[in-house]
Amino acid sequence: MAGKKKPLVVITRKLPDPVETRMRELFDARLNVEDRPMTQPELVAAVREADVLVPTITDTIDAALIAQAGENLKLIASFSNGVDKIDVGAAAKKGITVTNTPNVLTEDTADMTMALILAVPRRLAEGANVLPGERKWAGWSPTWMLGRRIWGKRLGIVGMGRIGTAVARRAKAFGLSIHYHNRHRVLQSLEDELEATYWESLDQMLARMDIISVNCPSTPATFHLLSGRRLALLQPTAYIVNTARGDLIDEDALTKLIQEGKIAGAGLDVYENEPALNQRLLKLAAKGKMVLLPHMGSATLEGRIDMGEKVIINIRTFFDGHRPPDRVLPLKV
Ligand code: DGY
Repeated sequence: MAGKKKPLVVITRKLPDPVETRMRELFDARLNVEDRPMTQPELVAAVREADVLVPTITDTIDAALIAQAGENLKLIASFSNGVDKIDVGAAAKKGITVTNTPNVLTEDTADMTMALILAVPRRLAEGANVLPGERKWAGWSPTWMLGRRIWGKRLGIVGMGRIGTAVARRAKAFGLSIHYHNRHRVLQSLEDELEATYWESLDQMLARMDIISVNCPSTPATFHLLSGRRLALLQPTAYIVNTARGDLIDEDALTKLIQEGKIAGAGLDVYENEPALNQRLLKLAAKGKMVLLPHMGSATLEGRIDMGEKVIINIRTFFDGHRPPDRVLPLKV
């Protein structure tokens, strides 16, 4: 882009230093070094002025905001894998391209999913609190802190995309048998590798699994995919893990069913109204029925730098006149 005017790129949150430095070298980059989430009026001012907006999952880029975008705004290069907070259809209608950062979060998110699959049945959070806790540890006993065995259990993966597949590979190594529900059946070679069983019926799969892992994207079609009715199909000994998006599960129904002993427990990294938290979740966590993480499934330094590099490549490719590699198209309805 030598000789050309650098595009004004507004970045809504603090990014890792190496990413910000590179952005400053390449673009007229407006950083948010204090990392204070931008208010809606600040976002409006940003879209009116910027050539490129780099939002994250904490920004709502809805049709109302996009309608106020200035003529210069041609690219929303999201620093995220999920684009559920961006109205991609409204952007397309206004001639604005949207990109995301797929692939680079897969392994980190799968690691955290596996950590929750282990943590809830094996009571990891409760155990980790014993020694730093106020009461003195009385020592080992044959009947104390008993959890449930992982090896030999059935894992039902809802959404067998990149992350679901990466979870399945890990889970298989832990002796779980792999089951999945997906819009489309995966390739036979992948099913063979994972020794996976495909369930066309989500309801039927849910009723038979020991652990459920939710790994599909949040779209209008998947809102409350695990509704109260579907959650009620789970066995009382079953656990559920969600590292995808909070709104895939009806959180009220989940807490009620766990409280009533109709589901054994849950490991959650994402919430319906995050960062606001339903207080009943905290009560269940205090009782050892839930392990709650603050949306940190993909939070590794390496992952964030990789995301930043993807954002940069998307912006550069776009301004070089090519189609950016991670372009997101509007959902077909
Ligand atoms: C994303 O980028 O969609 C992730 O949820 C962030 O952790």
